[in-house]
Amino acid sequence: MTNALLTRLGMNVPIIQAPMAGVATPALAAAVSNAGGLGSLGLADLPPEKARAAIDDLRDRTNRSFNLNFFVNEPAALDRYDAGPMAARLAPYYAEYGLGAVPAPKAPYPPFGAAGVELLLATRPAVASFHFGLPEASAVTALRDAGILIMGSATTIAEAKALEAGGADAIVAQGWEAGGHRGVFLGNADAPSAGTLALTRQIVMAVKLPVIAAGGIADGAGIAAVLALGAAAAQIGTAFLLCPEAATKPVHRAAIVNAKDNDTTVTRVFSGRPARVIANRFVHEMSDAAVLAAPFPAQHSLTSPLRQPSQDRGSTDFLPLYAGQAAGMARAVPAAELMNALALEWRAATKR
Ligand SMILES: Cc1cc2nc3c(=O)[nH]c(=O)nc-3n(C[C@H](O)[C@H](O)[C@H](O)COP(=O)(O)O)c2cc1C
Repeated sequence: MTNALLTRLGMNVPIIQAPMAGVATPALAAAVSNAGGLGSLGLADLPPEKARAAIDDLRDRTNRSFNLNFFVNEPAALDRYDAGPMAARLAPYYAEYGLGAVPAPKAPYPPFGAAGVELLLATRPAVASFHFGLPEASAVTALRDAGILIMGSATTIAEAKALEAGGADAIVAQGWEAGGHRGVFLGNADAPSAGTLALTRQIVMAVKLPVIAAGGIADGAGIAAVLALGAAAAQIGTAFLLCPEAATKPVHRAAIVNAKDNDTTVTRVFSGRPARVIANRFVHEMSDAAVLAAPFPAQHSLTSPLRQPSQDRGSTDFLPLYAGQAAGMARAVPAAELMNALALEWRAATKR
């Protein structure tokens, strides 16, 4: 089975390994691309020189297509933010780890901009994908003129139509089940949106572009299901987190191994934007403080000092344990082996 998207990208299996900032390594992306899928790097939180090194490393490992991913969020509006109430909520946790005063919030990385366009034009990946909307029109045109296929994430039909109008070549339909940050960019970011089944089918019917389904897909039956809905491919994140090639922290791995179907929740207490994580102490205790969070991604600068001491104690208390609703299906096998299993299962499910 093939389709125009897979043909253009030289893919043999309809599997895109989700870009995952901080977790998806060149080794993981290369293993997926080399197995006939599309490997991705999430570069949102890396300065251009580190992003360039990761891209060069990936290119050394594969001659096949890959995807580079960035965040196009609004810059954090800190001039209008009152940092006092969140600092007061975090102070006891800082005291617990002897960390001193809660710092003033600041954005740990800028949104995608001119430096990102320059990097993409210099490295020319087959695909560039964007979370939280699309870059400005001139950047989209420059990237498309360079032969780079553009993908954007949609959590609603309205967002899918906006991406189509903005010049995207393919839409990632990110269902409510999905692990990590929700790509929402229109309307109320905190409102729950449709699940992968309902969202994929409705976006397939609403746009002319190829649609890639994401969220809660972790085996070949899930891939066959979304292809039956009209998706051109499945984008899979959480199911790759236990692969040895992923940079998933040991405590995060352990939480995924033990995750049950209803252990995840959507919260913005870690970064300032809603993301699906395995619920832990910080999520439970801060659930009423989400409204106090610094604007994305500045909230990270307040919560990240708690992460290393938490890990050092072997505790998941303060880590953002990003994971989707199918976390319990993740397999701790090398990425090539996982790709092989997913392809076999997908073919078997399609025959059934
Ligand atoms: C650990 C983790 C990190 C993620 N980071 C990114 C990212 O940097 N960029 C992005 O577009 N999506 C990111 N996502 C979301 C994925 O693109 C995708 O929507 C999601 O993984 C699909 O759901 P699943 O995890 O249930 O497979 C991330 C997901 C996870 C689990």
